[in-house]
Amino acid sequence: MPPAQSQPHPLDEFASSCVRHPVSAKWTKFAEGVLPMWVADMDFPIAPAIAEALRERVSRSIGYAPEMGDTELVEALLEKHAPHLTLEHLRFLPSVVPGLYAAVAGLTSPGEAVITHTPVYPPFLSAIESQGRVARHAPLALGAQGWEMDWDALEAAVTPDARLLMLCSPQNPTGRVWTRAELERLADLVLRHRLWVVSDELHADLTFDGPFVPFASIDPEVAQRTVTLTGPGKAFNTSGVGVGLAYSDNAALMARLTAAAGGLMGHPSTLAYEIWKVALAQCGPWLEDTRAYLRGNRDALTGFLRERMPAVGYVPPQGTYLAWLDFRAYPWAADAQAHLLEHALVGLNEGKAFGPEGEGFARLNFATPRPLLLEGLERIASSL
Ligand SMILES: Cc1ncc(COP(=O)(O)O)c(C=O)c1O
Repeated sequence: MPPAQSQPHPLDEFASSCVRHPVSAKWTKFAEGVLPMWVADMDFPIAPAIAEALRERVSRSIGYAPEMGDTELVEALLEKHAPHLTLEHLRFLPSVVPGLYAAVAGLTSPGEAVITHTPVYPPFLSAIESQGRVARHAPLALGAQGWEMDWDALEAAVTPDARLLMLCSPQNPTGRVWTRAELERLADLVLRHRLWVVSDELHADLTFDGPFVPFASIDPEVAQRTVTLTGPGKAFNTSGVGVGLAYSDNAALMARLTAAAGGLMGHPSTLAYEIWKVALAQCGPWLEDTRAYLRGNRDALTGFLRERMPAVGYVPPQGTYLAWLDFRAYPWAADAQAHLLEHALVGLNEGKAFGPEGEGFARLNFATPRPLLLEGLERIASSL
C-alpha cells in the first residue's frame, strides 16, 4: 500500500492555467470534460530555474548557437554519460525521434531487418517500416520480473538479414528497467549475431527502484556496436522544446548516422541548449523531488488497481511515468481506448499503436497531480 501522505505536496495542486495551453497536444486532443492521460508530458509546472534562465535568455537576442552546442552543456553531458568520449563521438539532435530514424537509415540498408521488443514506443516501428526496412518483433512476455525479454522470441527474430536492434531502456510502454543481468544476456546475443544497437535511454533519469544501467556500459565491445540516445525532455518535462543527443564509443557509427541524416536533421534551438544546460546544472533537486512524487503516484496507482480494478492486468512500472494496462478481461478490450474515452471520459493511448501485441491494452500517463490521477482512476473504475 502507498505510504499515507501527511500533508499536501506542492505538485498535488493542478495549475490548470499552466498546462491547459491552447497549443498543448495533451490538453486539446479530446473534448472538454475528458481527462487527458495520454502523451508523455507531465502536468507539472516547469522547473523554476529553467523558467528563470529562459526569461533571462530571451531578454537578449537569441541567434544561432555554435555548431557543437554550448561548451558548458557539452562538458556536462560528457561528464554525465561518457567522460572518456570527445566531440567526434556526439551529435546533437533536434529531438530524440530523429535519432531513431537516423540510426535505421545509417546502420541498415533498405530491405534489411531491424529487431525490437514489442509493444514499443510507436516511432520505433515507423522508423523501421517507413524507411523500407522490415520490423522483426520480439514480443515481451510476462514472467517473474513482470515484463521480460522472451529469449526464444529474440533468437527467432535474429534472421540472417537482421542488422540492428532497437532497444528502449527504460522500456516504453511497460516501464521495465532492464537489469544488468538481462542487458548482459542481450549483449551476448548482440555480439554473437554482430548486430548494431540503438539504445533509446530517454527515460533513464526516471527510475524508481534501482540503478539504471546504460547498455553501452556493459562491455567495451558492446559499446563499439551501440549508439545511445538521450535528452532532457522526459526527466525535466521540456519535451516540446526539442533537443536530444546521440553518442557512441564508435566514431564511425556516429559518422554513418550523420551522413544518413544529411541536411535533413537541422539543429536544435539555442533555447533548447539553454534549457538542458540549466537542467543539468541546477535542477537535480527538482528532479529528485519530482521522481519521488512520481514514485508515490505509481504506488497510489498500484494500490488503486489492486483494490478497485483487480481484473485489469498491470505490473507496477520500475521507471517512466507510464503504466501499461491490460483490459483483455473485458469484451470491449480490442477498442479499450475508444471505450474508456466514451464511457469514462479519460483519454489514454491506444495499445495497438505500440504494435499488434498491444491489442487489448492502453497506456496511462501518471505524471499528473495525485488528486487528478485518482479522479481518472475513479472514472475508469466507475465505468467498468
Ligand atoms: C522512448 C522514447 N523515445 C523518444 C521519445 C520522444 O522524444 P523526442 O520528443 O525528444 O523526440 C519518447 C517520448 O515519449 C519516448 O518515450
